[in-house]
This record gives sequence, C-alpha cells and structure tokens, in this order.
Amino acid sequence: MSNIDINNKYTKYFIPPNIQEAKKRGKQAVQIIDFEPIPEEMANIGKGKYYLIRTYGCQMNSHDSETMAGILEHMGYQPTDEENVADIILFNTCAVRENAEDKVFGELGRLKHLKLEKPHIILGVAGCMPQEEKVVNKILQSYQHVDLIFGTHNIHRLPILLRDALFNKEMVVEVWSKEGDIIENMPKVRQDGLKAWVNIMYGCDKFCTYCIVPYTRGKERSRRPEDIIAEVRELARQGYKEVTLLGQNVNAYGNDLDIDYGFADLLDDLRKIDIPRIRFTTSHPKDFDDRLIEVLANRGNLMEHIHLPFQSGNTDILKKMARKYTREEYLELVKKIKKAIPDVVLTTDIIVGFPGETEEQFQDTLSLVKEVGFDSAYTFIYSPREGTPAASMKDDIPEDVKKERLQRLMDLQNQISRKKNEQLRNQVVEVLVEGISKTNSEVLSGRTRGNKLVNFKGDPSLIGQFVQVKIIEPQTWTLKGELVSTQEELLDVAN
Ligand code: 5AD
Ligand code: SF4
Repeated sequence: MSNIDINNKYTKYFIPPNIQEAKKRGKQAVQIIDFEPIPEEMANIGKGKYYLIRTYGCQMNSHDSETMAGILEHMGYQPTDEENVADIILFNTCAVRENAEDKVFGELGRLKHLKLEKPHIILGVAGCMPQEEKVVNKILQSYQHVDLIFGTHNIHRLPILLRDALFNKEMVVEVWSKEGDIIENMPKVRQDGLKAWVNIMYGCDKFCTYCIVPYTRGKERSRRPEDIIAEVRELARQGYKEVTLLGQNVNAYGNDLDIDYGFADLLDDLRKIDIPRIRFTTSHPKDFDDRLIEVLANRGNLMEHIHLPFQSGNTDILKKMARKYTREEYLELVKKIKKAIPDVVLTTDIIVGFPGETEEQFQDTLSLVKEVGFDSAYTFIYSPREGTPAASMKDDIPEDVKKERLQRLMDLQNQISRKKNEQLRNQVVEVLVEGISKTNSEVLSGRTRGNKLVNFKGDPSLIGQFVQVKIIEPQTWTLKGELVSTQEELLDVAN
C-alpha cells in the first residue's frame, strides 16, 4: 500500500506500483493470453457517450492509445476532440523525461473545474507515469478529482476498471509492477487506413542507466512470429500501405522465445508479404547484427531508414550509460550499414548533459554527429528519473551549460540535415501520399522511403497512393516538390 496518509477515497482494488518489484526479471515463461470478452454489463455502457484520449510520448504509447480506443468503442463509446463533449478523458502518459510529466500535471490541474462542473466525467491517467510510485502518490494527494489510474500492463483491464470507476465512486488505481504477459487480439482503432503500427515485442531489458522504460514497461517479451505475421497479412488484406514494427529494442526480438528466431528472421518472413512498406523502430546498436544488415539490403518493401540512437559519442559516457558499445563500435556498425545500403537514411537520439559530461566528452558527440552525417536527430537534455542508477550519479553540470550544449548540437544537426536534404534536389522520389498539408490545404504531404516529409501540390484523390515527386526545394525538415507522375500513370505506361 502507499505510504502516504490518504484521507481521500480510493478503491479496494488499489494496487500501487513498486519500482523495486519492477526491477525483478522473472524466469518463468511469458503467458500469452487472449483478450477477454467485455463483461456483459459493460458491453453497451458507452452508447451515446464520447471519449477523448490525449497521448504523450513514443509510438508505442500512440499504439496503446489505439488499443484503449478500440476497447472503448467496443463498449459503445464514440471519439471526440472536445473536452466539453467527452464523458471519458484519458491521459496516456510518458515518463521518459520530467517535462512530459509536468505537462500532464498541468493538464490535470486545468481539468479540475470541468470535473466540478460535470462530475459524471471519468478522468483517467494511464501509460508510463502511473508506473512510478511517486506519481501515483502525487495524484492521490493533490489531484483527487482523478477517477482512474492504470498502468502499461493493465490496458486490457480497462472494461473492469472503468466499471469500478463508474459504479464505485472511488478512485480506482491498478498498476501491476510485474513483468506482464502478452495479451493478443485486443481491439484497436487505428488512426488511419494507410499506416499501421504493429507491436513485435514489449518491454526492455537493456537498463540504460538514465532510462525509466525497463521499469515502466517490464521485461522483454516477444510476440510469437505467427501472430505478427498474421497481423501484417491482415493489414495488407485491408489495404494498408505501410506497417511500422514497434519495440523498445527491436533487435532483441526473439531472445526470449524458445525457438531460434530473431529480428532478421522476422523481417525476412514479413518482406514476403504483399505490403508496400515496412519500417521498424527502435534499434539498439548492440544487437544490430550482420544478418539483419543482409536482410535489410534486399530493400523491396523494407525501407532504407534506420533509427539508431547513439546517445553519446564518448566511450566513457557510454559506459556510464551502460549502453554496451564504444564510440568505435558504433562507427564501425554505421560503416557496415552504409556499405550494404549506400543511400540509407540514418536518424538518431542523443542525450546531452549526462551526469559528469565534460566539454571534451560533449565534443565527441559533436564529432560523431559530423562523422556519421545523420539525416535528423532527436536531441534531449538529460533528465534524472527517480529509481534509475544515473539519478544517483553526481550531476554538477549547470543547467545553462546543458542548454547551451543542446543548442550547439541542434545547430550542427540542422546544418547537416539541410545538406543531406540538398542532395535530393532535382531527384525524383517515391512518395506515399498521406494527407493534406497541415499548413496549406492546397498542398498534399507524404513520405519518402527514407521517411522524409514531402509537400507538393496535387489533388486530394491521390491520398493513399504512391506518386513520383521531383524535389524542387529542399529545406531543413521538409522537402518541397512537384508531382511528376501518379501510380495510375505509371501503370498505364507499363501496359
Ligand atoms: N533524459 C533524457 N533523455 C532520455 N531518453 C531516455 N531517457 C532519458 C532521460 N532520462 C531519451 C533517449 C532515448 C529517447 C527515447 O529518449 O535518447 O533514446
Ligand atoms: Fe531505455 Fe535503453 Fe531500453 Fe532504449 S534500450 S528503452 S534507452 S533502457
């Protein structure tokens, strides 16, 4: 039980998270469980009612939100974007950095008046933040207008938890800290009919010293290859054009299976499915083996984009981060990848201001960025996460130094991104048209095989098609182009 004195209401089903428990990695086999049918009394509970899910963080979270939406729609709820209309508002949260958490607390505070005005609204907090004890305690103490808290291992329990929240009038908290099972066949409402996320594994066993994910997401659990293959086949049958395979560390796929089958084997099987584009994220350099490079070099429906976080360019910092590779090993891996796939698009994640990082060590990060020439990078200032090993390391770098390093890194990366995009000037690229540009309704936007965003003038009927676009004006983050030919025109020529 929580160690704080809660005068406040909370349900008898209260299960608090426990970070010590979360560290344990059980030896027992992962259970694969089918999603249970929605209890009868909940099957139509949402008829005529609306839900709103606000999602923070990574693609894994976005995909979890699609599952929550699927479960809610199975109970009859309909989606809305308006808080005033919603009967349920769920925050699917991220715990990776503190500022993401602050935003959620801000939003919860802001919604207090809405809850007072409309007490029937169910306000829920889900995802990674509830996996932290201190977050649950803070909500119990200071955000008593919240009705429901559940963790990353409890999504399939949403119908039961919602029932308790609706009928018990008590705060319902259920956050399992155990490693978690794999729940198959959960309902999902995918964001669009073109691109789909597909989980291939859950959790992470890497325990990078700064990272909270191995605690919030549990141990590595791979889905069975046949379940993944069946899901991708079904998506292809439904007309999806692209799948992105998701895992915190996709290269560790299969390590926990009792068959000799890894990520390269999975990709080799999936590429035979008639789906135009396959992507994956995120890769860990340690497990990126030669066989995987060999399979990716087949191209076809395997896109030549690899997101390969390096975090720091200095071997001593990498050691303190427990990344399990050196600067030289990372560079060697990049060399191998570039040799096999010369036009590969490489993107990365970088942390600046890790505890004790000196100016010289930061310079190693800058020089690695230059040496590799990433197409783009997500850059972060180190954020201490309670319960992780790095949080107790001495951190004496002043905040303004960290900010200044981040700025220098971003300036450098922007120059490189611009240069990389410049290489595409006047080239004709294949674009999957995804929709209308956010900034100009006459402009369509889509992505290249390398995942670069392209904007060009075209008819909205092209959405969902592959077209050829000539790049006219490369910019730092996007490419402006001109339509050259559509899928149909290409087919006409072929005939
Ligand atoms: N502080 C800053 N950035 C972090 N990341 C993970 N944990 C932290 C942290 N504590 C970054 C890493 C990771 C990305 C998803 O988030 O770069 O690759
Ligand atoms: Fe976090 Fe490292 Fe696992 Fe990525 S590989 S989720 S950074 S612990």
